[in-house]
Amino acid sequence: MAYREILTEDNPRLRKVSRPVENFDKKLHDLLDDMLETMDRANGVGLAAPQVGILRRAVVIDIGDGPVELINPRIIAQEGEQDGQEGCLSCPGKWGMVKRPYTVTVEAYDRDGQYFLLTGSELMARAICHECAHLDGELFVDVAHHMLTEEELEELED
Ligand code: NI
Repeated sequence: MAYREILTEDNPRLRKVSRPVENFDKKLHDLLDDMLETMDRANGVGLAAPQVGILRRAVVIDIGDGPVELINPRIIAQEGEQDGQEGCLSCPGKWGMVKRPYTVTVEAYDRDGQYFLLTGSELMARAICHECAHLDGELFVDVAHHMLTEEELEELED
């Protein structure tokens, strides 16, 4: 496993639409292992392949319950709404308020190409939406209805 550099907001690769993963091979496994290590070291709860410069539809998420890998994910159902703070490893120091569904169901494949469905609520739903959006070139700053000001950020730190 190795740490990979995380691209930041101004990098045009983050704005591209990623292509589906076609080969569930060692190269994919190495990428996922590196993404998990990179997310972990950066203290993130999610990371999408384009954030490390790979324009493929793969994301990793860990909200504290252990790592989840979603290959070629597609959100197929959503319910309710939540409004909360969001940040992104590609937008260091920025936080914003983003409305997301309260619960989402995503279909995806695991690293060996096995199809599965996953339903998550609250932070998990937020993470799934945020990471899937990366695969279509969308960042949370595009959909935030309010970016936290420096004063608000200072209050958070207290
Ligand atoms: Ni992000």
